[in-house]
Amino acid sequence: MSEKISLPFADILSSRLSRRRLLEGALAITASSAIASCTGKAVSSAPQHTYGFNEVAHGLDPFLTLPEGYSYQVVARWGDPLFESAPSFNAKNQTAQAQSQQFGFNNDFVGFVPLSNANSTNEGLLVVNHEHTKARMMHAGVRNEADMNPSQMEVDIMAHGMSVIHIRRIDRQWKYLMDSPYTRRVTPYTPMKFSGPASGHDRLKTLSQPNGTTTLGTYGNCAGGVTPWGTVLSAEENVDNFFSGDIAALAEAENYQRFGFEDRGKKRWSEDFPRWDLNQNPQEGMHVGWVVEIDPEEPNSKPIKHTALGRFKHEGCTIHISRSGHAVAYSGDDQAFEYIYRFVSEDVYRPNNKAHNKTLLTKGTLSVAVFSDTGTLEWVPLVWGQGPLTPENGFASQADISLDTRKAADLVGATPMDRPEDIEVNPSNGHVYVMLTKNKSRTDNELNGPNSRAFNHGGQIIELRATDHTQPVFSWEVFILAGKPGELPTLYNPETQPGSWLATPDNCTFDKTGNIWVTSDGAEHFGVADGVWLMATEGPKRALPQRFLRAPIGAEVCGPCFSPDQTTLFCAIQHPGNDSNFDKPDTRWPDYSDELPPRPSLIAITRQDGKAFG
Ligand code: FEO
Ligand code: CA
Ligand code: CA
Ligand code: CA
Repeated sequence: MSEKISLPFADILSSRLSRRRLLEGALAITASSAIASCTGKAVSSAPQHTYGFNEVAHGLDPFLTLPEGYSYQVVARWGDPLFESAPSFNAKNQTAQAQSQQFGFNNDFVGFVPLSNANSTNEGLLVVNHEHTKARMMHAGVRNEADMNPSQMEVDIMAHGMSVIHIRRIDRQWKYLMDSPYTRRVTPYTPMKFSGPASGHDRLKTLSQPNGTTTLGTYGNCAGGVTPWGTVLSAEENVDNFFSGDIAALAEAENYQRFGFEDRGKKRWSEDFPRWDLNQNPQEGMHVGWVVEIDPEEPNSKPIKHTALGRFKHEGCTIHISRSGHAVAYSGDDQAFEYIYRFVSEDVYRPNNKAHNKTLLTKGTLSVAVFSDTGTLEWVPLVWGQGPLTPENGFASQADISLDTRKAADLVGATPMDRPEDIEVNPSNGHVYVMLTKNKSRTDNELNGPNSRAFNHGGQIIELRATDHTQPVFSWEVFILAGKPGELPTLYNPETQPGSWLATPDNCTFDKTGNIWVTSDGAEHFGVADGVWLMATEGPKRALPQRFLRAPIGAEVCGPCFSPDQTTLFCAIQHPGNDSNFDKPDTRWPDYSDELPPRPSLIAITRQDGKAFG
């Protein structure tokens, strides 16, 4: 493990913050007058309009709120039929067959993929992840996962995976085409293949896939990325939830325990489906925790799980083509004290050669981030035979590094982070932005440069800088230390107004002027709704946040994604009403019908004057 560093918070930051100052004191004094309480009333000081709109105030209520001059439409909701043959949503009579042809639950990542045969301004494919489910939000009378009967369990399984929908804009309204040949539901049963060092390895041989080169389905898909060659990467994250078994007695005990597998996992699929019972099917847990590449223009193609990118709780995966032409993939491992990874393809990207580019993630070098407190970041390669990654330490080949990536990263001294979520490259300045959502478990004895606060429930954004993304050493800066000023040490632009703070960054995207749009998952810890915030990344407004969207109670916001002309911002509103249940929900967003529960939905936000964002 890496050496534990315990420097005082201010000491650690001072080296990285010469041009900025902590707002700890300044904001703490005025913050209380501007903070919304849990009463559902939005409270704010005078609205700020740094970025051309009146900031949305903090608050917590059943509604989705946007600035004046903006509106949203719902593009797809949980249960919406995606195929002509699919039945319409019937909340009280759901079936697995219907769900397999309907939009899934808890939408997370959203990627816009232009079609090669259409103008992308008004048409394209949206690829959406359905990360997870919550039984009490999906079924009447159900209060926990164990309450589901076998047919409800089948619905639950089919609500996972991904949706590919073909959207078209007509009269400023985005609609998906039911009869499109591209429409696809990917579920936990969709046939897929493995690529890379671990494909065919004994540790991937299961009851139904005895060759270890193929697999069934994907689930736990959190964020992802659209590749420059028109495919989508989908990241399998909290896969420990889906399995049960006598974990300590299994051959993979060490691996599974490192992932947090429990004898009785949070989901209860194993009770009706032996596939997820590790006592009967012990290697099945090794089939998830990967990055999956799917080609949405080839609806019959088998998605590929790329083992060269390592196995961990991938939050997302985004690709940047380096100056040298290599595909560079960034992916965070979203668990407290886990790591940040980079993959560099062996071969180079060839414009307009999709078939070649689809092989880029099969071979290359995976590295893990080791941060110094003084502003450098070294990418340490996880290569078999190098350093401690040898048979003496349990690595018989590169396949074992793919399968036990976390253990390999431990041995080379990777820096334990505050739950890495999205990692994205800003096309305007080439810097890499890392969302670190929170880590309440970090103590004063475990601080390090980019993770400088104990009991961190605010999260932070770190900026990584490089001239070429393949180089072995980068530099890093703190972009913001998020959270409510006064409740923990924070860092924003000094001009930040008391009501403009954000917390728990999760996903992000960039507009054409280089501004970062950040979504949050966990701001309700501070008594305010999650949402979307905007910040400049350069100039005097750098790191100056303003709230753009306030989510309905219980919901987080995921998948921010602009249409190519940037007149539309697509967002996934995940788990509205999360802390309530189907029968008595905290909100009935987006339908507000007494007959319907709240529904996770994909929305399209536009300016009422039709102009572009940013
Ligand atoms: Fe699924 Fe890391 O949030
Ligand atoms: Ca996430
Ligand atoms: Ca999250
Ligand atoms: Ca989330």
